[in-house]
Amino acid sequence: MKWLCAVVAVMCCALSCGAADLTGNWVAENPLPDGTVRKTYFDLKQQDSSITGHIRVTQFYYTISESSGTPEAFTITGTMMDGNSPRKVVYEGKLAGEELHMATRRRPDAPLVEVVAHRAPAGEGAMPARIAPPALHKVAYNALAKTPPMGWNSWNKFAGRVDDATVRAIADAMAANGMKDAGYTYINIDDTWEAERDAQGNIQSNKKFPNMKALADYVHSKGLKLGIYSSPGPNTCAGYEGTYAHEEQDARTYAAWGIDYLKYDWCGARNIYTDAEMQAVYQKMGDALQASGRPIVYSLCQYGRADVWKWGPDVGGNLWRTTGDIRDTWDSMSKIGFNQDELAAYAAPGHWNDPDMLEIGNGGMTDTEYRTHMSLWSMLAAPLIAGNDLRSMTPAIHDILTNKEVIAIDQDSEGKQAKRVGKWGDQEIWTRPLAGGAQAVALFNRAKDDAPMTVKWSDLGFSQPPRTARDLWAHFDVKLDGSQYSATVPGHGVLLLRVKSGDR
Ligand code: GLA
Repeated sequence: MKWLCAVVAVMCCALSCGAADLTGNWVAENPLPDGTVRKTYFDLKQQDSSITGHIRVTQFYYTISESSGTPEAFTITGTMMDGNSPRKVVYEGKLAGEELHMATRRRPDAPLVEVVAHRAPAGEGAMPARIAPPALHKVAYNALAKTPPMGWNSWNKFAGRVDDATVRAIADAMAANGMKDAGYTYINIDDTWEAERDAQGNIQSNKKFPNMKALADYVHSKGLKLGIYSSPGPNTCAGYEGTYAHEEQDARTYAAWGIDYLKYDWCGARNIYTDAEMQAVYQKMGDALQASGRPIVYSLCQYGRADVWKWGPDVGGNLWRTTGDIRDTWDSMSKIGFNQDELAAYAAPGHWNDPDMLEIGNGGMTDTEYRTHMSLWSMLAAPLIAGNDLRSMTPAIHDILTNKEVIAIDQDSEGKQAKRVGKWGDQEIWTRPLAGGAQAVALFNRAKDDAPMTVKWSDLGFSQPPRTARDLWAHFDVKLDGSQYSATVPGHGVLLLRVKSGDR
């Protein structure tokens, strides 16, 4: 009898020791109001005091590189490569019965946020197998975006709160408030519209967007176009379903819904591909969009990595982000905008540098600063994608966004991006050649205080001094007299002129 007790004891020990073991696949499920469930996976292997494995959270997939503690109180650090930069996450965990409590900080100074994970079947939530990127070839130009695209995008103002009703109301506003007349056309839904795929692998929209086709029909009925968002990775930046391994299928779905514009955001692709493979990965979607048979503007969003301006046109891209995300501050906007000089050669009809969407009207800058934002983006031949609530603009913001004389600079048919021609401390002069031999001349004052500025016409290549210039914000013809022109430019402000050499 004794030997039987001993065997049972060993079995019990094995079971109870197993219960205190972290080994296994764990999932924390956070249901969102849009009907999707945000899932975080901890695939753990415990051997004595060491814990190895992976953490998959939103768009990120980390390998556990450090661990300490016991199942009742432990710390794990996950690391991954994001392009050429390492990324880290730290979780503090504890096993409590059948629950795994995992807490992390979004930033080192932020409070700990806890999720509770339960055991999940092995393999659930695993990263999909890598699909080798295709060999490079040139995707034919889709004949779209001959001038920089103009429209609106949901992200800067609404982020995860965008829904069908908001998009319809924004389309109504754009059609009625003069923006459509001024050239704005695209209404672009950014991240967080996605649900999971159906049994046939078709991407579906979540509860916030009950019927994408009906929404596209509505936007089209207003004489506008509808844009959508996805990622070449398994997940988007906000952790929603990406397009990975479904490129042709998704392009067909977009075409069937009536989508006219796709912003394709690297995000979760960073877990599968290197930056050197980006071109091939973006080419795959360029091919898929073309095969869909519908003209769809192709907007590449990979934060200006891997010299995208050199290969963006070859993958069928109509525009490509040149920077990280803009924020609604003078610092962010001006740092991005004034840093685009070296990319001028890459802008051309059909193919544009994209220094990110407009923040005009979102409240973090003054009207003077927003006029600088609009002027600078127009000088840069940048896409003019408004990012504010078009239903509730002040008259000043409305006038900035719909200034047709400034928009005419952005939309100039030559498609030549401005260059900096002079810089003295915080003051800069940029010029942009326009169709018909005119020039846009912008005197930017990046200092806080007003500053006198002088432009010498001979420095801008004028053989004869111009006699008049059009002030595009004052809507006023300025009489010029002599070889130079001086004006006081407000702090963080701009004087934007359209100048033609000789008589006008
Ligand atoms: C990235 C992009 C943003 C926006 C978000 C959405 O950060 O750069 O423009 O699309 O993702 O998650």
